[in-house]
Amino acid sequence: MVDPTPDAAPPVLELQHLRKTFRVGFWAKKVPAVRDVSLALQAGESLGYLGPNGSGKTTSIKCLLGLVVPTGGHARLFGRPASDPHARARVGYLPESPYFYDYLTPTEVLDYVGKLYGLAAADRSRRTRELLGVVGLDEAARRPLRGFSKGMLQRVGIAQSLVADPQLLIWDEPLSGLDPMGRKEVRDLMVELRRQGKSLFFSSHVLGDIEALCDAVCILDRGVAVAQGHLSELLRPDALESEAVLGMSAQTEAAMLALRALPEATVTLTPTGVRVVLPTAAVAALCRAVADLGLDLRELSARRDSLEELFLRKAVARGPEAAA
Ligand SMILES: Nc1ncnc2c1ncn2[C@@H]1O[C@H](COP(=O)(O)OP(=O)(O)OP(=O)(O)O)[C@@H](O)[C@H]1O
Ligand SMILES: [Mg+2]
Repeated sequence: MVDPTPDAAPPVLELQHLRKTFRVGFWAKKVPAVRDVSLALQAGESLGYLGPNGSGKTTSIKCLLGLVVPTGGHARLFGRPASDPHARARVGYLPESPYFYDYLTPTEVLDYVGKLYGLAAADRSRRTRELLGVVGLDEAARRPLRGFSKGMLQRVGIAQSLVADPQLLIWDEPLSGLDPMGRKEVRDLMVELRRQGKSLFFSSHVLGDIEALCDAVCILDRGVAVAQGHLSELLRPDALESEAVLGMSAQTEAAMLALRALPEATVTLTPTGVRVVLPTAAVAALCRAVADLGLDLRELSARRDSLEELFLRKAVARGPEAAA
């Protein structure tokens, strides 16, 4: 994801030491929204953008779309400046809170977006029908958006980002506002888009979804990228711990002594036995102790480092005011 080799094709999306400071109020007080973010997304990959509220995700996404002018650094799409309309034309964008004129119907919105991209009438009509089916809005296709729920508007937002069959999707919180069924449908859609070779850059607070859908992540905290890379590198399997649950027989004095003597073991009593957490490398020693002492081993599992643990370690959650 980061530091592409110089000869490789340019990343589909790139931020280099991006900075954005807003000036607000009469005294033009400085609000540093993005302080230093560098990242790159290669074609066909998917990158999850995470961070507490107010950490600068939406601001940097807007810089990528040329909607906000950076204070420093660079934002590029397909190797061109983010402001270049040719680069922008290859991107499907879902804003954080999609807003449409509420007297329009989903069919009219998608047709209008198709016109903006220069699609012929027959293609627009086919694409509109197809996409309304993909996002589950066939039945509401001709109802004005005025009466739409947040999740239904989100579905229109997703559909309009796909009208021109873009190479790169930049989605700001695609899973927000959706019911469980809708979330599953959008997750499946993202898997399908990946299968088609599209590149995905999306922000989300749903860490489980990011973990399931992304090759790589970038975690922001107060405008700074505090961790980034492929999940396989960040969630290091070699640093994992294992957890064993033993029956009551492990509560004897001799057994407790033997278990506590295992390398870096944390031994705790439970109502029904003993729980041992220790480095995976020490599992063989644990199994020997279990055999020697004739203990009742009920469960043995690897404790995988989760994205949630990484996120909590790297990004200290604070309120939006604190970030300002
Ligand atoms: N137009 C603006 N004018 C002034 N300050 C702004 C503006 N847009 C964003 N900010 C400030 O920039 C900071 C980052 O906001 P941003 O919306 O980028 O965060 P975020 O990571 O997308 O948060 P969330 O997870 O809540 O969507 C916040 O302190 C916010 O108040
Ligand atoms: Mg945001």
